[in-house]
Amino acid sequence: MLNGKVAIVTGAGQGIGAAIAHGFCSNGMKVVLAEIDEEAGFERETMLRSKGFEVSFVKTDVADENSVKAMVERTVEIYGRIDVLVNNAAISSTKSIFERTLDEWNRVIQVNLTGPYLCSRYCAQWMIENGGGVIINIASTRAFQSEPDTEPYSASKGGVVALTHSLALSLAKHRIRVVCISPGWIETALWKKRELRRDPQLRPVDHSQHPAGRVGDPVDIANLCLFLADDEKSGFITGVNFTVDGGMTVKMIYEP
Ligand SMILES: NC(=O)c1ccc[n+]([C@@H]2O[C@H](COP(=O)([O-])OP(=O)(O)OC[C@H]3O[C@@H](n4cnc5c(N)ncnc54)[C@H](O)[C@@H]3O)[C@@H](O)[C@H]2O)c1
Repeated sequence: MLNGKVAIVTGAGQGIGAAIAHGFCSNGMKVVLAEIDEEAGFERETMLRSKGFEVSFVKTDVADENSVKAMVERTVEIYGRIDVLVNNAAISSTKSIFERTLDEWNRVIQVNLTGPYLCSRYCAQWMIENGGGVIINIASTRAFQSEPDTEPYSASKGGVVALTHSLALSLAKHRIRVVCISPGWIETALWKKRELRRDPQLRPVDHSQHPAGRVGDPVDIANLCLFLADDEKSGFITGVNFTVDGGMTVKMIYEP
């Protein structure tokens, strides 16, 4: 039963995070949009409030401990508790290893890996007060396979998968479940802030190369979050990763 529960979704102004926030709100949850981009955050807050949902944008940089601490305190101030955390915010850096600076490497690791660690740490303290909770980490199939020039993103996502089983064991005694979702190709063009929103530009081959016959939609990820956030449905699941990629990572590829 999710109705009335309180969730924090990081990076919820746009993309997959926005779809997760929408799914949670539609199921009666109160949601904090912990987003670094003010324009995206306020736009999403306005859109969701116009549907009558209880939702608050709190400007947050998940890589900054003081910012995370303040966001968690603000959430408790507004809604009184925290039941669910979705660590969704992430950035990437696609360039040659010889061109990428150490600062660029560090920023990706800080946002994508340190961010989920910090948010989990500060939220878990409040979840313990409620007698439990659920942390959902959004990793990527790039934790397991790569294209060239994506080292910090892939490494951070591999870290998120490992962080999931480690946290799951540390927090199990507090009745906090920690799970991970690794999306494949998810088309987010329709879920961007107004300035960046556009119609998806997908070719037939983009869809047909997927065993499922189509590219993924943010709602595919939101639906699994709804299942994993609900103790009545997924209470026996913790520490594991779910790949949601339309079958791409199990497809054997040889040159024709
Ligand atoms: N879209 C895909 O195909 C895909 C595939 C695999 C995994 N993922 C993962 O799903 C998640 C969402 O991806 P998306 O495609 O929706 O991305 P996106 O770029 O559309 O949205 C990410 C949001 O996070 C916010 N953000 C960035 N840095 C932040 C910070 N430091 N603090 C708070 N918010 C911050 C951004 O402003 C943005 O609104 C990410 O973890 C990503 O790695 C996406």
